[in-house]
Amino acid sequence: MKLTLLVGTMTGTAQLVAQELELVWDNPGDDGGMQVETLLMEKTDANVFSREGIFLIVTSTYGQGDVPDNAKALYEELKSKRPDLSRVRYGLFGLGDRTYAETFNFGGKRFDELLQELGARRIGERVQHDASSGVLPEEMAAEWGEGWLALVKEAVPA
Ligand SMILES: Cc1cc2nc3c(=O)[nH]c(=O)nc-3n(C[C@H](O)[C@H](O)[C@H](O)COP(=O)(O)O)c2cc1C
Repeated sequence: MKLTLLVGTMTGTAQLVAQELELVWDNPGDDGGMQVETLLMEKTDANVFSREGIFLIVTSTYGQGDVPDNAKALYEELKSKRPDLSRVRYGLFGLGDRTYAETFNFGGKRFDELLQELGARRIGERVQHDASSGVLPEEMAAEWGEGWLALVKEAVPA
């Protein structure tokens, strides 16, 4: 099974999360045969969703609850072209900071809402990491990643 991680980041934290998840999932002893690839959002476009397999959006939040700069082109392209994503299954790991109470984790929330509008279906709950919580995002990701992978395997039998 193929898993594509799409990373929206400003200062690299979301990328650390993706790297951690690659380590957790790329276990050679695992029978699942996962093929994991991470793409920074600025290096891709809406056509990425025609790939096979499952997607995981890993994105932080900036400005007034905006997606990070490197995610803007992809987000706007999806919003304007409105491709049919009804064959897409995805997960969402958002990063934010509760200090920004009004816009906490809105980057992930925006992607989640847009993907659903376009027909994509999420696997599992939308995760919201909180930078003010003291929990490292990589640690949260490693713990969450195991359970999410089990949900993926349930949703999409190999
Ligand atoms: C200037 C600035 C604005 C931010 N705005 C928000 C926000 O509106 N909502 C939120 O939940 N987090 C906000 N954050 C917190 C970041 O999303 C959080 O620190 C995240 O872990 C950064 O991940 P990154 O390094 O991958 O970009 C902001 C951080 C900065 C520095």
